Amino acid sequence: MRVIVCKDYNQMSEEAAKIISSQIILKPNSVLGLATGTTPIGTYKRLIEMNKSGYLDFSKVKSFNLDEYYPIKPDNVQSYRYFMNENLFNHVNIDINNTRVPNGMAPDPVKEGADYDAQIEAAGGIDLQLLGIGRNGHIAFNEPDEALISGTHATSLTEDTIEANSRLFNSIDEVPTKALTMGMGSILKSKMIVLLANGKNKHNAFKKLLDEEITTSNPSTFLKVHPNVVLICDEECYNG
Ligand code: F6R
Repeated sequence: MRVIVCKDYNQMSEEAAKIISSQIILKPNSVLGLATGTTPIGTYKRLIEMNKSGYLDFSKVKSFNLDEYYPIKPDNVQSYRYFMNENLFNHVNIDINNTRVPNGMAPDPVKEGADYDAQIEAAGGIDLQLLGIGRNGHIAFNEPDEALISGTHATSLTEDTIEANSRLFNSIDEVPTKALTMGMGSILKSKMIVLLANGKNKHNAFKKLLDEEITTSNPSTFLKVHPNVVLICDEECYNG
């Protein structure tokens, strides 16, 4: 794993946008794996600027998002589909039909998971997967557990994640308790992984990702088995 320590959030976002744009320039029909959350918003802003200035073309790009709450309608402002449209897709020249987010209204979540993995496979696999990290070491919604599920699946969120995500809802009771998520197996099939982490509140999670042996009680440690991972953080996250 390569670690890039940046001065601050803006520089972290700039570095991530540089890597993602290089990927798209080298392979215009890249398949991107995308994340929601607060962390990648700055990166998406930079990618939007690059697109608007004519430097970066998303017209052939395909994307698959890591996760979605379940059940949730795509037009619900709290849905990850809504987040992606608002923070990236509506502002760049990506074909919206080439963007996938797990279907939060899927009648059969098991089938949705299998179909989602099959769609990723059919697209040729993910070239570059962007990740954030939970305070508890979760990756996508793969929460610490005795065992991890490899493929895309439905899962329950931990109390810590519900509490962390409640900042985006009117009250903690509104936070969905379930989600559909790509599994660690699906994520580790990506050709390259870029994980972003910023701020003091991610220091412990970031340190554990670097220091701990591979364990299902810290899903982020599974990134150690992947040959092409770049971790980009800011000084606050790195130094604590
Ligand atoms: C989001 C996701 C989550 C977040 C993580 C960090 O699609 O899968 O694992 O990456 O919870 O969230 P933020 O960036 O809000 O701190």
